[in-house]
Amino acid sequence: MPFTMEQYQESAAFLRTRLGEFRPKIAMVLGSGLGSLGDEVEHPIFVDYRDIPHFKASTAPGHKGRLVFGTLEGQAVAVMQGRMHHYEGYSYEEVTYALRVLRLLGCETLIVTNAAGCVNTAWQAGDLMLITDQIKLFSESPLRGENLPQFGVRFPDASHLYTPRLQELARQTAAELGIQLREGVYFYCYGPQYETPAEIRAARILGGDAVGMSTAPEVIVAGHCGMEVLGITLLSNMAAGILDQPLSEQEVLEAAGAAREKFSGLIRACLRKM
Ligand code: HPA
Repeated sequence: MPFTMEQYQESAAFLRTRLGEFRPKIAMVLGSGLGSLGDEVEHPIFVDYRDIPHFKASTAPGHKGRLVFGTLEGQAVAVMQGRMHHYEGYSYEEVTYALRVLRLLGCETLIVTNAAGCVNTAWQAGDLMLITDQIKLFSESPLRGENLPQFGVRFPDASHLYTPRLQELARQTAAELGIQLREGVYFYCYGPQYETPAEIRAARILGGDAVGMSTAPEVIVAGHCGMEVLGITLLSNMAAGILDQPLSEQEVLEAAGAAREKFSGLIRACLRKM
């Protein structure tokens, strides 16, 4: 069943009762193993997803399933510690529900992060990648169904889903910190099985540099409702078939742990400049 405007409003109204005067400006979605930045939020107000009307719980490993409101580097943020994925059995509308609620609360910007497989063979596991664009060709849109014009138009432009100004900000920030930041296209695969080597070859031919099971639906919805987006990927592993070894969730979470400081440092420094 599609969500109604009333349901989005109800969730937002509930959160307003928990937030008092506080209003977030920047929504942050933290991906697999990258949620620890949410623990660094100052004056935090925690709200479990399961307490919010119409929210779904996140069941994925490395995902806590709560919102953290507060300040980070002087910015009023709403951090999603854990996100919903299509492979958990949720519809794309459910996967992106929280984003629209955060938009109603006043968020104008989305910082989205994820762990993903590295498709580009010139790069290495452990590298960070600025997402410049995305490919989500083989599954339906989160905007399918009746359009809610309060959020955006029926046929939204998707030429600049990842805001050029924020890309430039991240580029400059990484350079200042001496962090190597790759740049490329996020190729969405819905999982939960990792891709086959043939699928990775196909993704490469189609123009993908990283492959992952999240982010693209959320960014479509964020773009639809007029949010600016900055996307950063941790390339947690070489994608299937590149190295002669099986892929595992363990490897992904370990890589996320190892990159935590570099990753948090970059996001924090970007926040300072936003
Ligand atoms: N494929 C898809 N999703 C992922 C991967 C991968 O190799 N690594 C982390 N998330």
